[in-house]
Amino acid sequence: MQTLKFSNGDELPAIGLGTWKSEKGEVGKAVHLAIEAGYRHIDCAATYGNETEIGEAFSEIFKKGEVKREELWITSKLWNNAHKKEDVIPALEQSLNDLQLDYLDLYLIHWPVAFKPGVASPKSDEDYLSMEEVPIIETWNILVEAKKRGLVKHIGVSNFSIPKLKDLLGKTNQPPEMDQVELHPYLQQDDLLNFCKANKIHMTGYSPLGSGDRSSSMKAENEPSLLEDELINQIAKKHDASPAQVLIKWHLSRGTAVIPKSTNPKRIKQNLESANLDLTEEDLSKIAELDRHFRYINGKFFVTEGNSYENIFDD
Ligand code: A2P
Repeated sequence: MQTLKFSNGDELPAIGLGTWKSEKGEVGKAVHLAIEAGYRHIDCAATYGNETEIGEAFSEIFKKGEVKREELWITSKLWNNAHKKEDVIPALEQSLNDLQLDYLDLYLIHWPVAFKPGVASPKSDEDYLSMEEVPIIETWNILVEAKKRGLVKHIGVSNFSIPKLKDLLGKTNQPPEMDQVELHPYLQQDDLLNFCKANKIHMTGYSPLGSGDRSSSMKAENEPSLLEDELINQIAKKHDASPAQVLIKWHLSRGTAVIPKSTNPKRIKQNLESANLDLTEEDLSKIAELDRHFRYINGKFFVTEGNSYENIFDD
């Protein structure tokens, strides 16, 4: 498996199992199946509401000796309601406790958005804190502290634009090592990718298959379908592969990690096997033309009248 290398020598397997939207009662099985199939990278987050079940799966897997803890790369993310400096370590400890782990390989600030403590899902302006009230650097400095304490091996961010990365880089001598963002052929984000490469920040692509299992409230009307895209299907057919495999392998060709979500045994395996697909230069240059700056996750759910999250992606 292709890996992304970190400055201390650690390596992140490029294809990981996504767990956003993986239901309770299913996610534990999915983790077992993924690890049996050969996945060594599992992407989690407190807000997905399923870390306890994933933790039970890890505990069983380690007990059986299927893999050792140090052979897995486990990521989790700080939810928006724990950005205040006194709330960061308790939130991290909760994830560690739920996941039944002593450390995480990677911990990310999930969004450049802050809610008031205790608010899981905001209902009105009142539920938010502005970035002036809780500057990202306040939260970041505690992630740096968590790394020093050995609670996490690497730290990074998610959903950060170039201006937000620049701002953070200007305020810390401990730069983020990862920016996890939405990436796929309809949202290629070449400028962000080039900025990250130049600043030695790795990237992970989420929603690589278009996250068709999102709730309808998160969907725009007439969304384009990546899995049904004509070109992607043509390329898949030519290689005797599935459209999902073409979409997943595309990330590896750009040097980013990717976290397709599945709870289906066949698709979990199929997604990992994308690594074996050989996309040609011609395939890649045709896919490059599909870019249309389309976001499936547009961040509009954070916009309430009067809050400062109108243009969260700065684009
Ligand atoms: P399922 O979990 O039933 O496999 P994303 O990773 O972009 O969030 O997309 C997840 C969605 O894509 C889920 O609905 C998931 O369904 C589906 N999916 C995952 N792998 C494949 C695949 N290989 N082919 C088609 N759909 C897939």
